[in-house]
Amino acid sequence: MTDNDTSSSKNQDSHRIATTGDLEVSTYLEIAKEKEGYSSELLDSSDSNIGPETIAIVDFGSQYSRLIARRIREQNVYCELISPKAPREVVAALNLKGIILSGGPSSVYEENAPLAQPWVFDMGVPVLGICYGMQLIAHQLGGQVAPALEREYGFSVIHKNNPNLLFDELEDELAVWMSHGDRIDLLPPGFVSIAFSENSPIAAMGNDTNIFGIQFHPEVAHTPQGTQVLLNFAYKICGISGSWTPGNFVSESIERIKNQVGNGKVICALSGGVDSAVTAKLIHEAIGSQLTCIFVNNGLLRREEPERVRQVFQDNLGLNLIYVDASERFLSALKGVVDPEEKRKIIGAEFINVFEEQAGSLGAVDFLAQGTLYPDVIESQTSESTAAHKIKTHHNVGGLPERMKLQLVEPLRYLFKDEVRLAGAQLGLPATVLNRQPFPGPGLAIRVIGDITYEKLEALRSADWIVMDEIKHDGLYDNLWQSFAVLTDTRTVGVMGDQRTYQHVVALRAVTSDDAMTADWARLPYDTLARISNRIVNEVPSINRVVYDITSKPPGTIEWE
Ligand code: XMP
Repeated sequence: MTDNDTSSSKNQDSHRIATTGDLEVSTYLEIAKEKEGYSSELLDSSDSNIGPETIAIVDFGSQYSRLIARRIREQNVYCELISPKAPREVVAALNLKGIILSGGPSSVYEENAPLAQPWVFDMGVPVLGICYGMQLIAHQLGGQVAPALEREYGFSVIHKNNPNLLFDELEDELAVWMSHGDRIDLLPPGFVSIAFSENSPIAAMGNDTNIFGIQFHPEVAHTPQGTQVLLNFAYKICGISGSWTPGNFVSESIERIKNQVGNGKVICALSGGVDSAVTAKLIHEAIGSQLTCIFVNNGLLRREEPERVRQVFQDNLGLNLIYVDASERFLSALKGVVDPEEKRKIIGAEFINVFEEQAGSLGAVDFLAQGTLYPDVIESQTSESTAAHKIKTHHNVGGLPERMKLQLVEPLRYLFKDEVRLAGAQLGLPATVLNRQPFPGPGLAIRVIGDITYEKLEALRSADWIVMDEIKHDGLYDNLWQSFAVLTDTRTVGVMGDQRTYQHVVALRAVTSDDAMTADWARLPYDTLARISNRIVNEVPSINRVVYDITSKPPGTIEWE
């Protein structure tokens, strides 16, 4: 065994969509896309004259694979995660400069252990195996891998024992993070050891055709100089020039959109979140008034949210914006509904109806823009696609692209979230849009526990406003993944002056997280909590008690419903 596999949390909350409201919107539309047998393709050389210089990361299932990709991208180097089963043509279509074999939970000598395909070693580009990836190189090129006497997990120190470009500019001793049970006992022919640790006589190896293996994880923060190892590989060994910058990405995307769309008409659903905002702005830069954005106010938004979206997109950015106030329609469809999944389904179906009506009023439209991100693409390429997963709970509302014969424009499908923010900044979008905390597509409907009424929504909007105000006032907003109020259906007794009250309890939720898959409750300062509580109880008449949710995820979820 090599890496610890902690992917389990992913499956515990299959009824949720693990990103922002942007994805919610796109999910409804994506459902139709899958029915058409649409398949994802990434940046390939047919897209433009020649794709960006690329490192292919063959993903053997490590919990750290995406992290490798992000670390590489942070060095202005484009990379893609590739399935170990990908056919040669997929890789051959890339402007390939190097290959990384990731770690993974298997052991090379297990039956059915995933192997590197022949193209890994015969494409003529440098190869770097990390952990399981290194063991594969040893195993497949004639070395020997065996269970180590002791599992090496956690901090370790490796010592360089042969000069090598991979460790260029690094000290002779290196603090690294290890996570493996197998080790290399015999080098494959032509390889030399380039570092050892106490438990791994061969902690790193290389040959003179630029094939390398390292037993440690350079991508994690616990390997302080790991980034330099990846940098050395990309720049000094693969000879990459480092042109994957937000500026280049933006200008290349604009060109690509122009080529794809021509004189066609594009529609885009705005959610108020960062992904749809950057998508719309990029497309607007490329084709101007051929783009129309549609923003649906479902009556479940936060206070002043509709005005803010209109102000930013219509007034400041000058986009064609159709604003639809469909609040009453959504609220009447939700009347009396208490089940959270039922709420989600109703909101999804209603959204499609409203969007379709509006799009229909525009005459002939050719394209639908979506803020699909790279993590969504990666997930949709795994065996059970996310969209298929979502259909189960978002019921099949029929698809816009299919009915209206729309093609998709997805300019962000190569980007991670942090790259989207960088591109947005490059495009001049305001920080308030780029750094907005995620907000779920079904909005406040899943934060009013039980049935939804206009009065309850208004009470929650007031409480939510106070939470945001105080969190921002204390400079905490940007450090929290999300911070919000939940209107519970519990009432408690209180006293206000001489009056006995019997009103709602509001729960305060604030979490830190990297990706919403796991989260911890935020240790908010007592003073902040005190001010939020005092203000809510004093300023919102229907609430007389505030509690703080101290549950992490897992076992809890971020939202209450
Ligand atoms: P949970 O509550 O599952 O939330 O821990 C993880 C992230 O997803 C958001 N979320 C949703 N987003 N539609 C969305 O667009 C939904 O139905 C939905 N449910 C949860 C949640 O706000 C958090 O960021």
